[in-house]
Amino acid sequence: MRILLLGSGGREHALAWKLNQSVWANPLYIAPGNPGTAQCGINVALDINDFDAVAAFCSKEKIEMVFVGPEEPLVNGIYDYFKAHEQLKDIYFIGPSKEGAKLEGSKAFAKEFMMRHKIPTAAYREFTIDNYQEGVDYLKQHSLPIVIKADGLAAGKGVAICQNHVEAIAEFELMIQQSKFGDAGKKVVVEEFLTGIELSVFAITDGKNYLILPEAKDYKRIGEGDTGLNTGGMGAISPVPFATPGFMYKVEERVIKPTINGLHKEGIEYTGFVFFGLISVNGDPYVIEYNCRMGDPETEVVMARLETDLVGLCIAATQKKLDQVEIKTDPRAAATIMAVSGGYPLGYEKGFEITGLNEQFGKQSLVFHAGTKEESGKIVTNGGRVLCVTSLDKNLEEAVNISLDILDHIHYEGIYYRTDIGYEFKPPVS
Ligand code: AMP
Ligand code: GLY
Repeated sequence: MRILLLGSGGREHALAWKLNQSVWANPLYIAPGNPGTAQCGINVALDINDFDAVAAFCSKEKIEMVFVGPEEPLVNGIYDYFKAHEQLKDIYFIGPSKEGAKLEGSKAFAKEFMMRHKIPTAAYREFTIDNYQEGVDYLKQHSLPIVIKADGLAAGKGVAICQNHVEAIAEFELMIQQSKFGDAGKKVVVEEFLTGIELSVFAITDGKNYLILPEAKDYKRIGEGDTGLNTGGMGAISPVPFATPGFMYKVEERVIKPTINGLHKEGIEYTGFVFFGLISVNGDPYVIEYNCRMGDPETEVVMARLETDLVGLCIAATQKKLDQVEIKTDPRAAATIMAVSGGYPLGYEKGFEITGLNEQFGKQSLVFHAGTKEESGKIVTNGGRVLCVTSLDKNLEEAVNISLDILDHIHYEGIYYRTDIGYEFKPPVS
């Protein structure tokens, strides 16, 4: 099957690595990809938000399956674009319709969807310029802290957790009056703060049936012990020790089933992955957010543990036969540690040579590229998140230690990574 994967981060390297293991993938193209994906297939220089260009490539290369890695093209309607074109509409497409992608693209849409389907989530209100003053009054009497979210996509930066009312009103004003996030912040969701521990759960759906993939937990803060600024993700683990069968039963019954049934009932076309960003509040799951694609860096541990053929799974999803397949998971623990550029998530320099990538690592480890590029035969840094090292072992602590050992051999100017991924789950030192 002739496959085109869209995207260029660590998630896409992990997906390309997994897709390429399938006997079905022949050939695998990645657009635009990175030097890591180039080891798994053929990189193609395409702007993935230029749908005409993606379509022209698909026609020319007789692509049979398109798999969309990141959210942006989905939120912009790439699925609908393909379905509206006679010569593209039969291509197997992994990614939801524009309406389905609103689960991620509009926080207000997601909240209203959860209300309609009685899916547990934080209490909220939504505001625009039209009821701005009402919003200010609402904020003044809200319990602290207050969570304020821009409605639209804001590159992961659209959420503010405010510790006092002055800060909350200032943030609210910046979003609505000063267009801090452009159109994305014209509508704002004000939400109750939930206290608990977060995890990410993933399902693949054909629009009616679904299968649950291994769960994961990502580490978003830059500093050890979850301190400092938020990032795109500094590491991830899978499985998540507190995701017991009892907890996952609640997740499936209260969150996953009503979500998939809700999409189906509302006639929203959705073939692809649903990412449930959850928080466990005293053992009960609440939805913090939906994403319409796999997570990054969660994919780098989920794919490492997924034993099922990913192309086969995608074919079953597009043929609406997910009830006929099952997910097999490697029982070992996986940990990934992200190496970032010095200064990230604030300003950082790019273009530093990365060495140590060609050393022989054990079979249980994988080095996924994120922000890298090839320049005159050398691999250089090309982003905030540069690469991540995933390892599998019998327990989480060992998996983390193996990844740390490998990172010890990888160098570039300014390299930084967290050494404490999975720290909450380490057995106490006796
Ligand atoms: P989001 O972009 O929706 O994932 O939000 C970013 C982060 O803000 C989440 O990963 C949570 O850590 C935090 N967050 C969002 N909403 C809430 C909430 N209602 N209560 C507590 N923390 C939240
Ligand atoms: N790891 C969070 C995300 O992919 O949005």
